[in-house]
Amino acid sequence: MRELPFLCFLLCFGLSKCYFAIPLKIYPGKYNLSSAVNLTRQVALTSDGNGLSLASDPTGTVNFLDMVNNLQGDSGRGYYIEMSIGTPGQKLNILVDTGSSNFAVAAAPHPFITHYFNTELSSTYQSDGRTVAVRYTQGNWEGELGIDRVSIPKGPNGTIIINIAAILSSDSFFLPGVNWQGILGLAYPMLARPDKSVEPFFNSLVQQLGIPDIFSLQMCGAGLSASSTVDPVGGSLIMGGAEPTLYRGSVWYTPIVEEWYYQVEVLKLEVGDQNLDLDCREYNMDKAIVDSGTTLLRLPVNVFNAVVEAITRSSLIQDFSSGFWDGTKVACWMKGETPWRFFPKLSIYLRATNTSQSFRITILPQMYIQPITDVDGTLDCFRFGVSSSANGLVIGATVMEGFYVVFDRAQRRLGFALSSCAVSGGVALSEIAGPFSAADVAANCSGGMLKEPLLWVISYALMAVCALVLIILLLLLVLPCRRRDRSGEITDESSLVRHRIK
Ligand SMILES: *[C@@H]1O[C@H](CO)[C@@H](O)[C@H](O)[C@H]1NC(C)=O
Ligand SMILES: *[C@@H]1O[C@H](CO)[C@@H](O)[C@H](O)[C@H]1NC(C)=O
Ligand SMILES: *[C@@H]1O[C@H](CO)[C@@H](O)[C@H](O)[C@H]1NC(C)=O
Ligand SMILES: *[C@@H]1O[C@H](CO)[C@@H](O)[C@H](O)[C@H]1NC(C)=O
Ligand SMILES: *[C@@H]1O[C@H](CO)[C@@H](O)[C@H](O)[C@H]1NC(C)=O
Repeated sequence: MRELPFLCFLLCFGLSKCYFAIPLKIYPGKYNLSSAVNLTRQVALTSDGNGLSLASDPTGTVNFLDMVNNLQGDSGRGYYIEMSIGTPGQKLNILVDTGSSNFAVAAAPHPFITHYFNTELSSTYQSDGRTVAVRYTQGNWEGELGIDRVSIPKGPNGTIIINIAAILSSDSFFLPGVNWQGILGLAYPMLARPDKSVEPFFNSLVQQLGIPDIFSLQMCGAGLSASSTVDPVGGSLIMGGAEPTLYRGSVWYTPIVEEWYYQVEVLKLEVGDQNLDLDCREYNMDKAIVDSGTTLLRLPVNVFNAVVEAITRSSLIQDFSSGFWDGTKVACWMKGETPWRFFPKLSIYLRATNTSQSFRITILPQMYIQPITDVDGTLDCFRFGVSSSANGLVIGATVMEGFYVVFDRAQRRLGFALSSCAVSGGVALSEIAGPFSAADVAANCSGGMLKEPLLWVISYALMAVCALVLIILLLLLVLPCRRRDRSGEITDESSLVRHRIK
């Protein structure tokens, strides 16, 4: 009995204080297409200053053009890069994830992957004996920490020694149809597991090769079928700077609010020309991050509801099945009758590096009303590329695919520019504009003012619930025994209970 309150205490604090999941969310793009009109998705969702800055390369050893098109994949299955791990090198495809900080590869067979990193075949692999576990919004894995040599065929020249988590067991992490066997977490040490002393891959890369502390990402799946079976479209991960041929116009920068995830500050959302007009802290509740490992644009519940309402109002489509908005249904039109003209643009305003200004990134409906596999030849079906979130706003692949995103860690800012590949039939699928005055929003939309008290309220509420449960448990355990003692009817079952209590 004595450990029960303690357990409860742990539960309360564990839930409200210690637990935060890393927001990896991948759609493998498998849909059950058995019903022609209402197609139900098979996969459950578990769960500035403006101006141009070209990265200079002091060492002169990095050729960005060699890295163009070094990614394969799409938003549904994730974007991955080929790496050569160990000695001799074993080639593996590695998912690019800006929402976590461990470099982890499969080190044991799994039904959904074709090959894995065999540590015994690498003469340079060294285990450090520690185990590590990471859980994402979707899926988790466990493994062993070690170090080994890695090179990136279409990356900066050179071999580096990095921390590797060798994945020995996992659940819902590797998915059917994905063609990657590991994950490259590109966020800050703060998110590394088991603790921040495990230096993340990109930190090691910058330190050992002397490249600038910048990488940039172009993901080219915009407007393409989410479960297309043709060759994945791909993209580019430029390590050490930004490649000018991958974007048009200038790069707009927003400060990185805190260095753990790539946390940014969202000031305003617009659906069509209409400002949602929520308290700007709602948009950043409890954080707003840019994450290539999340498929959709995820919005805090209040914001999500406001967006759906605004879209419904302006889309001229009445009686839209709620299943479409919550992602359990796809919507189909007759082939060729593309629905995009019925939907408004979505705009996100980000704080500029001149904090009294903002700029906005806009996606056209082609980006968030996403085609899925052609069904039976007569219909085109689409899913809603936005979902609600209980742990903050996530600018995922749905939005990132419209932009060339520069992760300028050296200057603690993220840059957005129009992506050269976010074009469909000659039409640009994204827009970027600014500067706008930020005088109409609070000085700090990421402020903890709403965040901390909320956590405490949750903590206290959970503690109260625990206490109540404890009292009920005590009553349940004590009362029946007394009664039975009095009546003298002791069955085998009840005596079992009594033994347990002792
Ligand atoms: C698809 O749905 C149909 C009807 O609901 C079901 O009979 C079938 O087994 C499903 N197919 C798969 C692959 O789950
Ligand atoms: C489609 O779904 C709607 C609501 O979910 C339902 O009323 C309708 O009967 C379904 N149509 C078909 C053809 O299954
Ligand atoms: C790697 O080195 C080769 C030969 O020196 C050079 O041609 C190539 O551009 C370099 N690649 C990168 C990414 O710097
Ligand atoms: C920042 O923006 C404000 C308002 O637009 C402007 O008055 C100010 O000059 C800008 N500061 C810098 C350093 O550009
Ligand atoms: C905004 O508030 C957050 C949380 O209190 C803090 O970490 C951040 O530094 C603040 N930003 C500014 C510009 O004051």
